[in-house]
Amino acid sequence: MHRNFSIAIDGPSGAGKSTIAKLCAEKLGFLYVDTGAIYRTVGVAAKKAGLDSKDEPGMTTLLPGIVITMCHDENGLQRMILNGEDVTEDIRLPEISIYASDVSAMPAVRSFLLEMQRRLAETNNVIMDGRDIGTVVLPNADLKIFLTAAPEERAQRRYDELLLRGVSTTYEEVLRDIQYRDMNDSMRSTSPLRPAEGAEILDTTGNTLEQSFDLVCSLIEEKLFQ
Ligand code: DC
Repeated sequence: MHRNFSIAIDGPSGAGKSTIAKLCAEKLGFLYVDTGAIYRTVGVAAKKAGLDSKDEPGMTTLLPGIVITMCHDENGLQRMILNGEDVTEDIRLPEISIYASDVSAMPAVRSFLLEMQRRLAETNNVIMDGRDIGTVVLPNADLKIFLTAAPEERAQRRYDELLLRGVSTTYEEVLRDIQYRDMNDSMRSTSPLRPAEGAEILDTTGNTLEQSFDLVCSLIEEKLFQ
């Protein structure tokens, strides 16, 4: 029997990773794992505990008391449970983006979450998106994709998404957040954001969602099923 298939999609914030990964997972019947949501859940835990987002000693003390589980609701949405409480809505708040980016730079946080992510891939066919899936979490993935786009376009996409969700913000604020996180996520010393060896690099600037989705589908066809 073939071992489970795994597809890793990495890239900066707002590149379209989660939308495309979700569509592919539906098409293939794979489990979609949004690892950013897991880091965001740790960010919520830090905020709830009253920690500053950069308080590494505080975070290290907090970690052993954190239990994170995830499940998928009837619409396929990944719900995040923090110590028994559903925090799926809270993790999307703009201030939690900053918390997630800051806590994700801490080696203790990364190793705390590594096994959880690997276990999901051992027991399911997965399409997993994040920043270090192809480089660290699943270096032997059947297909690794690095999805990117110009910061201004990523900010516009994220801004439209937040507006639809009724979050009050401005384009400038979203662009600043994207630039802060690009810098933070790429410059950190532990598992920085960069294309994995052998990754297919897709720049989606100027593409419609359908065009990017089609490109990813052809890569999947070629790498997994031929
Ligand atoms: O994908 P996202 O924007 O929801 O992720 C939130 C933050 O979590 C992001 O700024 C970086 C971090 N992250 C990470 O370091 N590694 C991952 N595999 C996924 C997310």
